[in-house]
Amino acid sequence: MSLAKRDLISINDLSDGEIEAIFDVADSLEEPLRRRQARDICPDRIMATLFFEPSTRTRLSFESAMHRLGGSVISMADANSSSVAKGETIADTVRVVQHYADIIVIRNPLDGSARLAGAFAEVPVINAGDGAHEHPTQTLCDLYTIRKELGSIAGKSVALCGDLRYGRTVHSLAFALARFGARITCVAPPGLEMPDHVRHRLIRHYDCRPAEFTSLDQVVTDREVIYHLQVPNHQAAEMLTGDELVPVWDLMSLFDVIYLTRVQKERFRSHAEYEAAAGSYQIKRAMLDKAKKDALIMHPLPRVDELDYRIDRDRRAAYFRQAGNGVPIRMALTALLTGAVRTPAGVAPPPPRPAPERLPPDLVCVNERCVTRNQPYVAPRFLSVGGEATRVQCAYCDAELPRPEGALHPLEAELTEKG
Ligand code: NCD
Repeated sequence: MSLAKRDLISINDLSDGEIEAIFDVADSLEEPLRRRQARDICPDRIMATLFFEPSTRTRLSFESAMHRLGGSVISMADANSSSVAKGETIADTVRVVQHYADIIVIRNPLDGSARLAGAFAEVPVINAGDGAHEHPTQTLCDLYTIRKELGSIAGKSVALCGDLRYGRTVHSLAFALARFGARITCVAPPGLEMPDHVRHRLIRHYDCRPAEFTSLDQVVTDREVIYHLQVPNHQAAEMLTGDELVPVWDLMSLFDVIYLTRVQKERFRSHAEYEAAAGSYQIKRAMLDKAKKDALIMHPLPRVDELDYRIDRDRRAAYFRQAGNGVPIRMALTALLTGAVRTPAGVAPPPPRPAPERLPPDLVCVNERCVTRNQPYVAPRFLSVGGEATRVQCAYCDAELPRPEGALHPLEAELTEKG
């Protein structure tokens, strides 16, 4: 199945092969000759960028990508200047805009809003960030940067640090890193750890159990943890073979990639809650002395105070190069989803999403930021959580909730029906 006409809502809407195919097209677009010819790739196509939240990199790099492909862009960068300010719904907005554009890029503060937009639009929809849920195109830029700078993703030890609860980039990235065989460590202040649906998916689907810490400044003496973080990288395995040897490592020294995120002020319920978390995450210049010589410091940007400006001149600071990779990646993605560039033959699609379960119609998603709780015309839908009889998952925002009493798991229901 080709990528043409598909939506990209979650990073898991792409198979590993499709992600590699996007990287290959992006690589080819970075060659000077191909770059000059790129204006012939999408000359007759229009992209609509609908941004209901602030954005610099994502919107501008999508727009730059489409211009470089020879296409045109129509943009709604400020929701207050559109009919949304008059109360127009997401569904109506995309049902109208699909007549004006061949592809829609949407960012909205509600978790699951992009899935909803995809369900109502007949043209491909790309999720440019839906609330605290996912940001799959940022993940493509992140993976591409790691691959380009470190040669591969498999076996790399990656620390995801900061606001892992509300930071959507790290949710999509964690799935992708696990799929490509990286070792993940989560470093988050108390209360801002990865949400359950991300943790559970990592375990259930990819057998990935990240090590967890509360600060990058920590010293590690636990050999199990170091084994988990390091092997088979570098010399740690050797150090661990001597029974009498209990290594002492600075956490910073263990990672190939240190990925920082901003504390997501706009998603906190109260200012007091934000104040308690703000400033809890900072990399100071001196901390870099402990990091590997070829480590990458990454950040989706914008930064607030979590990255010392004096780090910028260090070769390991990869965040501006990471932002630059947004253009070839979004060119490749746009070319493939609009069908202007063909998906290479033999690239398999991801497994299909499970069908929604039949559950009591009054069942409500537990996540108050979920699109189903905020756009009254949307009927909530729930999916089975792989192999679990006691929980279901919102089909829009992925939040997990207890299976309602009396509602049987589809397999149980089938067995009961067969008698
Ligand atoms: C991120 C986002 O919007 O989620 N920015 C981006 O797209 N590069 C990260 C953030 O806002 O903190």
